[in-house]
Amino acid sequence: MKDKIPPPYTALQRHPMMPQASHDEASRFNFLTLFNRYLSGEIGRGNRVAYETRVLPAFKVIHGREPESREEIRVAMNQDPFHRMWSALKRNSMEMRQQNGRQIVLRQLDELDAKARAFNAASGLLELDPSVEQPVYATCVDIHCQPGGYHGGEREGDVTVGANYDVGLFATTGGALGSLNDGGGQAVVGWVKANRPDWQPKRILDVGCTVGHNAVPFAQGFPDAEVTAIDTAAASLRYGAARAAGLGVTNIRFVQASGEDLSRFPDNHFDWVQTTMFLHELSAESMPKILAECARVLKPGGLLLHVEQPQYGPDMPLYEQFIRDWDAYNNNEPFWSAMHGVDLKAVMAQAGFPLDHQFVTGVRAIPDKSLFPASPDGDEEDYGRAAIWNAYGAWKPNQDNGLTSGAKKEISA
Ligand SMILES: C[S@@+](CC[C@H](N)C(=O)[O-])C[C@H]1O[C@@H](n2cnc3c(N)ncnc32)[C@H](O)[C@@H]1O
Repeated sequence: MKDKIPPPYTALQRHPMMPQASHDEASRFNFLTLFNRYLSGEIGRGNRVAYETRVLPAFKVIHGREPESREEIRVAMNQDPFHRMWSALKRNSMEMRQQNGRQIVLRQLDELDAKARAFNAASGLLELDPSVEQPVYATCVDIHCQPGGYHGGEREGDVTVGANYDVGLFATTGGALGSLNDGGGQAVVGWVKANRPDWQPKRILDVGCTVGHNAVPFAQGFPDAEVTAIDTAAASLRYGAARAAGLGVTNIRFVQASGEDLSRFPDNHFDWVQTTMFLHELSAESMPKILAECARVLKPGGLLLHVEQPQYGPDMPLYEQFIRDWDAYNNNEPFWSAMHGVDLKAVMAQAGFPLDHQFVTGVRAIPDKSLFPASPDGDEEDYGRAAIWNAYGAWKPNQDNGLTSGAKKEISA
């Protein structure tokens, strides 16, 4: 039992931009962290009991067959009292997390904005371009109940949404991402070093970086590289650049740009193009455009890596697809279901990454074990809440360097 208890909120590293939580605010996050763990784990298992003992038998009586899609399971489960209660609790936990984070940030917004301005003026890590349009698919809802999404603000030029994202991610992830919420980025660095020990990427592009939780570890892991972290949302970038400067990172720039239009970068420019938990927030129209741009700016022999939750496929049981789909219908993730349902390998192939250059591997977040002794290993699957992802990757074809079969032997991180 002890190893199932997440670390306390106070285990988070207090980097200079991190909003200060009072005793009561930290306690609320501790409650929500435990609540989320409990909802995803012990209580969440009741959904399967409801499905197997009530919902599935009733479905078979009515239809004379098994469900044929995750949508059919969802419609049937939405009638079940236990699932409805679980869903309501989960939705409420999301809203409470956002309210707590937002209240912490608004209370000290003057100070946070002033600090961000000072860091960004001194470091030169931030490059904003007001001409960059906010994609409609990103502004049409407050994504995962985040007030203002990634781009909104309380007032012109502020850091509200970036600061709120950073201060509360711990509660959403049950503390599984480590003391800087950067365990995913650290895991990717570990994966690259294990798979290409002698590779020294010089230019790295992170598309959809938000506040740089996973781009900053690339800059730290490859200090000789120059990391360009792009996002359309100025409000997130302002906070991210200041956070990176506060952490003493100098080989990264936070640039306002859209992945749909990377024309500011020449062809074959980057050694590595990364996205992390990004593709599922894209519309069906934008994803192929972004992948095509990624292919264009990547050097031959370079690495494209997308860290994501697993795609639904014929091998994934329909019940699992249904439970993984929860966020799409209850947590303002409008593209989650459709994106996870596409044949991502085919979309990547169309963008210029042939199937025999693609690979899928596993990436598990590396939490800081000294600060997070009680963090679970994550062996237990909890359908989308554990810090374990699939990485969908490809090495861009290169006729000359023998890397054409580089996709074959990948080591899981
Ligand atoms: C789920 S977050 C990604 C998390 C982030 N990669 C990390 O490692 O913490 C999605 C981000 O993609 C950004 N975004 C959406 N569409 C974009 C586009 N066309 N170009 C660049 N960024 C985009 C959003 O503003 C948001 O910050």
